[in-house]
Amino acid sequence: MRVVRAELDKQPSDVRRMFDAVARRYDVTNDVLSLGQDRQWRKAVIAAVDPRPGERVLDLAAGTGTSSQPFADRGAEVVPCDFSLGMLKVGKAAKPHLPFTAGDGTQLPFADDTFDAVTISFGLRNIVDPLAGLREMRRVTRPGGRLVVCEFSHPTWAPFRTVYVEYLMRALPPVARALSSSPDAYVYLAESIRAWPDQQGLAKMVEAAGWQAPEWSNLSGGIVALHRATA
Ligand SMILES: C[S@@+](CC[C@H](N)C(=O)[O-])C[C@H]1O[C@@H](n2cnc3c(N)ncnc32)[C@H](O)[C@@H]1O
Repeated sequence: MRVVRAELDKQPSDVRRMFDAVARRYDVTNDVLSLGQDRQWRKAVIAAVDPRPGERVLDLAAGTGTSSQPFADRGAEVVPCDFSLGMLKVGKAAKPHLPFTAGDGTQLPFADDTFDAVTISFGLRNIVDPLAGLREMRRVTRPGGRLVVCEFSHPTWAPFRTVYVEYLMRALPPVARALSSSPDAYVYLAESIRAWPDQQGLAKMVEAAGWQAPEWSNLSGGIVALHRATA
């Protein structure tokens, strides 16, 4: 079998194939690798978006819809969008009530000003051109609407940052090998996290994409950061 692994230059077709391949075990692997912390991170995303019943929310790079379901639970009209048909199929089988939509984050299949809020969890880092993705998210958000980006970031305490980098680079691939049918995807995960901009760097990118007043909060000591901004 061909080894499925996106390189850091992130060819979109490689990224898509990689997620197609991990789709079936995606959610369980996530839970184990994050030691269950992903649940807290997802709660923080919902609190930051604070969706009102009936609001239209785009969850970009929604994968299997795990990041989308809590919006539906709050009465929002959430649209999970992703370009991996493998992830969408697994999502649709488990959550047939959600309107899963195939779409590329750099060319979204939605009109201008469609959404009250747009959010992306653990997806922006994977988009081939994240600045273009943020611009597209801005285009489809109504004036005054909000953005919430949840993404791996840089731990703020230097000694912990060192341990974390060691954990990522050494522990993650063998653990993933035991759990996932595509362990190389998790080598990509570790490498792409290391190559991703820090909190301030991402805030600058958000602003450069046309969003107003970006700010962020750190979760789990900066392992994850939530960036918020307004259209
Ligand atoms: C790590 S998963 C995150 C899934 C979900 N948001 C979650 O929190 O569990 C990243 C997702 O980004 C999607 N993705 C990567 N590049 C994309 C693009 N250009 N357009 C749409 N989706 C993309 C992948 O297909 C994958 O499903």
